[in-house]
Order: sequence, then structure tokens, then C-alpha cells
Amino acid sequence: MSFKRTNITTALPYANGPVHIGHLAGVYVPADIYARYLRSKGEEVVFIGGSDEHGVPITIKARKEGVTPQDIVDRYHEIIKKSFEDFGISFDVYSRTTSKTHYKVSSDFFKTLYDKGEFIEQTSEQYYDEEAKQFLADRYIIGKCPHCSNERAYGDQCEQCGTSLNPTDLINPQSAISGSKPVMRQTKHWYLPLNNHEQWLREFILDNHKEWKTNVYGQCKSWLDMGLQPRAVSRDLDWGVPLPLPDAAGKVLYVWFDAPIGYISNTVELCEQAPEKFGDWKKWWKDPETRLVHFIGKDNIVFHCIVFPAMLKAEGSFILPDNVPANEFLNLEGDKISTSRNWAVWLHEYLEEFPEKQDVLRYVLTANAPETKDNDFTWKDFQARNNSELVAIYGNFINRTLVLTQKYFDGKVPQRYDMEDIDKNVLAQVAAGKAKIENLIDEFHFRDALREVMNLARIGNKYLADTEPWKLAKTDMNRVATILNVSLQISANLSIAFEPFLPFSSKRLRNMLNITSFSWTDFGKTDLIKTGDRIGNVQLLFEMIEDQAIDFQINKLQQTKQANTAVEQSIKPIKETVDFEDFQKIDIRVGKVLECTKVPKADKLLQFKIDDGMGGRTILSGIAQHYSEPEKLVGSQICFIANFAPRKIRGIESQGMILSADTPDGKLILLQPNNFIDEGSMIV
Ligand code: MF3
Ligand code: ZN
Repeated sequence: MSFKRTNITTALPYANGPVHIGHLAGVYVPADIYARYLRSKGEEVVFIGGSDEHGVPITIKARKEGVTPQDIVDRYHEIIKKSFEDFGISFDVYSRTTSKTHYKVSSDFFKTLYDKGEFIEQTSEQYYDEEAKQFLADRYIIGKCPHCSNERAYGDQCEQCGTSLNPTDLINPQSAISGSKPVMRQTKHWYLPLNNHEQWLREFILDNHKEWKTNVYGQCKSWLDMGLQPRAVSRDLDWGVPLPLPDAAGKVLYVWFDAPIGYISNTVELCEQAPEKFGDWKKWWKDPETRLVHFIGKDNIVFHCIVFPAMLKAEGSFILPDNVPANEFLNLEGDKISTSRNWAVWLHEYLEEFPEKQDVLRYVLTANAPETKDNDFTWKDFQARNNSELVAIYGNFINRTLVLTQKYFDGKVPQRYDMEDIDKNVLAQVAAGKAKIENLIDEFHFRDALREVMNLARIGNKYLADTEPWKLAKTDMNRVATILNVSLQISANLSIAFEPFLPFSSKRLRNMLNITSFSWTDFGKTDLIKTGDRIGNVQLLFEMIEDQAIDFQINKLQQTKQANTAVEQSIKPIKETVDFEDFQKIDIRVGKVLECTKVPKADKLLQFKIDDGMGGRTILSGIAQHYSEPEKLVGSQICFIANFAPRKIRGIESQGMILSADTPDGKLILLQPNNFIDEGSMIV
């Protein structure tokens, strides 16, 4: 099959947290290398990214913070988008699944399948919260684990013993929203009958795409061999793309149905914005001469190799993926990267601590990419690769070439006289590297490709060490001229070969060499730099990274580990020591609750009227989610800080602070005296 153009998509990251090195290594750097490489070959490419902004975890995070899901995704979409820009991920579009276009494209897509009769409808019983008046996603149901008796297991998994559960497995299930006991209620959903797609999928993948990476092919095969089942494409939830059907109020598209359609929506958006450059979106999705390639992590394989192709096929007018080069996972210092345990190197933090060193991270993550198995990122390896590869090989070769050109030829590119074998050989080796590198990139072996590119720098470095032009300067200037001309040609070649991998330093190198345009087709030529041209100001391409900077990072991770251990042992780390004087400044008293009500439109706040023994006061407290029946607190006693500076919250002045215990499993429980104590008594 010959293709005219390539549509490169990257998994849309969930907009419920910033992105870290695992994201970059697994998906975005390899996809960017591929996109830059094809573009520099002059091929027609579109490179699609965006945020995945639906799904239950986003609603849970929002509820925890007392904000709306939209607030959450607005916050993280911006952070994620900026991280990608900062690292040079050269998306043609980075949009989001809450865009207008996406709502239209994804609901139209659903409607088409619906009208074609591609879904089956099925009614089943699911847990419903009568107080909150909503069906409960599995994560919203909490109860006792039937295996380990953990009281706070979730409806999809017990995090204590790791067992995956169904909500009906839980003993004494409770709604995480209202705390009430959920009831079973019937609900209707739409299912994509994947079983009907099994036959052609087997052929499509197992027979016709034997070239897919073994990890991808193997996962697909085991899914197909287990037999495919119908999959629900709708959910009862108030966050998502509403189901475009009558009498489907309160139902949305399942996030894994709408998200991959986001690739299409984002292409539509791009083509509407820049039609002169990208043409009609349909050519990227419906023309069989377009090659569709999905870059993803291994946890997304089934959705991209089986479910999404089934959706596209059911629709009928779309092309199917030609390849899905999924990567395995990147670990950090021996442990699984985890957002909730803060075990990660966050991209925005990296750039604060290593400004302008995007390429160093891109280099290390590619050189150590989890292409065939899970891999480990360590700071020591990061430092070693920077110091002994980027600085000592690539940087050193470039620097010696440019400094010597300045020194002996006043920055003017010297002429090449008769070449000796060693000169011809080194140029031939560089030219021969090109085909090898191309083959490797074409087959998504980016880490081997990068190794070959670095090898060319190594060849250049060795050439200078062997020819020692600095020793010839007194005796044979013609020879020096030839050697430096050859070295400059190699440098120009390196600026092209490294561009897909290390775009920032390639640009700096092109500036130093005064090259304005570059193209992969020039790679291998030996006259890229003309005799007599001037080179620009010489700067170091890479700098050494000292132990201090690395120790700082290792230390930071150790602290994270300690904090995590403390939490896991249910103990929060002890705060800084305070003096008796400091403690005495706080005036803690006993009070009685006279009134207690929810603050309208604030999920977390309760408004207390307190008898403080001094005429009464109003205090707001952020514990509403832990007391679903606040009126029951009336008459009981609490403890409060009486000299807390008054604060206005939602237009209400809060005159103090009510004390609660913050428990290891995240509950807030009011401190209440066991015996009756006179209101206004001071706690000392
Ligand atoms: N948000 C998903 C994840 O991070 C990936 C979605 S990929 C898409 O695992 F195809 F759905 F867009
Ligand atoms: Zn358990």
C-alpha cells in the first residue's frame, strides 16, 4: 500500500493533573520525532493532540475540591498545553474534548451509528443514590471489601488488597456523594456489540498487521482469543457529551467513546482554522491514501486497536489505523510513576529546575525509551547521559570544530584541498548512516535511531582526535583547512539528523553554522556549508550537570517517599516545632451548636451559629461533605479558635475556626467533648 500523507495522533491526556516524564517518554516525544522527521522529508503530515476532559475521575476531583469539573479541566488543559509547547512537541493542533466542535462531531458520530442500527439497547440494574438523585459510577460507591474487610473499598477496586470488584460485591455499600445507602434501579444503556466485529478484526490485525510491535500484536491477540463482548457506550453521569437521543436525559457518552473521536474533532477544528495549509479534514480521515498512526501507552491498546477501529468501521466511511506503536511504561528510580503519590518528575517543575534543558530530557527519555519493555528513569543515568554523551561527544565535537574554525580561519569556512582516505571515509560513514537511521525511524525504533545519530557525532569526534588539526597548524595549513571543512560538513549533517530528536539544540547549531533552512534530503551531502561563508557566535551546545543538581532531585524524591510512608502508616509528618508562647497565642474555646446549615452553592461549607458564652457568633467550616445531616449537630458541643482573624467567605463573615480531626482516610471529624463543659471555657 502506498500512502500520500500521514495522520499522527497522540493519546489525549486526562485533564486532571499535569503531565510528567512518563507521558513524554511513552507517547509525545516518539510521536514528535516521527512528525518532525516526516515533515523534514517534505511529507504531508498532520500531528494531532488535545486534552481528554471527560470521565468520572475528573468529577471526583472536582467534588473533592468543591469546584466544577469545568474548573478542573480549564486549569489542567492550560498547564498540559504549555508543558507540551515548552518541550517542543510540534502539534499542529492541541484542542480539547469540551470544545463545541467536539460536542457536535462526537454526538453526530453516535447518531450515525445509532441510525444505522449499530448499537444494541439493554436495561440493567445499577446503584442509584436517592438523596443525590443520580446513578452512581463504580468509583462513587464505597463499602466493605468481601476479601480483606477494608471498610472503604471502591465499587471497582479495593485499594487495600488490590482485588478488582463489582459494586454489588461490596458489603454495606454507601454512596460517596451523600453517604446514603444506594438502591438498585433499572437503567437503559447503548452497547457496541464488539462480538459482531470479531471476525474482521481478527483478519485486520492478526493476518494483515503482523508488522505491529510484538507487545501490541500480542495484547490484541489475547483479547481476540478471549472473545469480544458488547461494550456500553453510554453512562449515567452529568459530565460528558449528552446522548443525542430523546428520553436520554442524564446520560452521556462514555468517555472512551467520545475521547478517540476527539482526534477527528481536533482535525476538523484545525482544518477550519487553516484550510489553505491542511485542506479538508476528510482527506485526513477518509482517504485510503492517508496513513493513520496512533501513538499511545500500553494501557490504551485495546481501545485503539479494537474498540475505536470497530467504531470507525461501524460508521463506514473512515480509514483504519495503519499502525499503533504503543510503548510500555517508564518507572522512576525503580518505582511505578504515580500521580496520587506524587512519584513523578513533572514537566513544568523540571523546566524550572533545568531551564532551557528540554533537549537533555528529550535525549534521555529517547535513549532510554520503554519501547519493548518497562524502563527505569534515574537521575544518575540522566546526569551520565548528559555529561558523557551530549557534552563529551556531540557537544565536544561541535565545539572543537567551531572554535578551531574561529581560531585558524577567523570564522570563515576554509576550503577543502585534496582529501585523504580518512577524510573520504568519515564523510562516507556519515552518508551511510542516513539509510540506517531512516529504516529505524520508519519502524518506530527511535532509541536505536538516536543511538545511530549519536554514533555519527562519535565518528566526527574520533576524526578530530585522529587527525589532530591543532598540531598541524604550524606545518600544514592546507591540511587543517581540509579537516575543518570536513568537520563543518559533518556538523551540518548532525544538525539535520538530530533535529527530530533534539530540536532546540539543532536550532542553536544551525544558528552557529549560519544555516537558515534544512531538510532531511540534504542529509548525507558533503557541501552543505560553502567555502568562505562565515560561522556565527560560538556557544556551548550542552553544559555539564553537576552532582549538586542531581543530589537535589534525588533528595526531593526521598522526601516524597518519606511523606508517602508516613501517610501509608496513617501518620502525617510532624510540623515544625513551636514554642509555648506560640501555642498560647491560640485561644481555643468550647461552644454549643445553635444552628447548622449548608451554604447554598458551596459543596463543602457548613454555616454554624455558635453559643460561645459571649453572645454568640457565626463560623463557616469546610466539612459539609462529611456531615450529610448538619441539622443533627444542633445541641452538641464543639471546639473552636476564638481569636481567629475573621474572614469573609461567599459573602458571609466567619468569626473563628471549628476544630476537626483530619483522618488518614480523608475524613474530617468534629472534635466534640464527651462531657458537658460550660460554653466559653478555654482549652489550655
Ligand atoms: N485519556 C486517556 C488516558 O490518559 C487516553 C485517551 S486516548 C483517546 O489513558 F483516544 F481516547 F483520545
Ligand atoms: Zn480488599
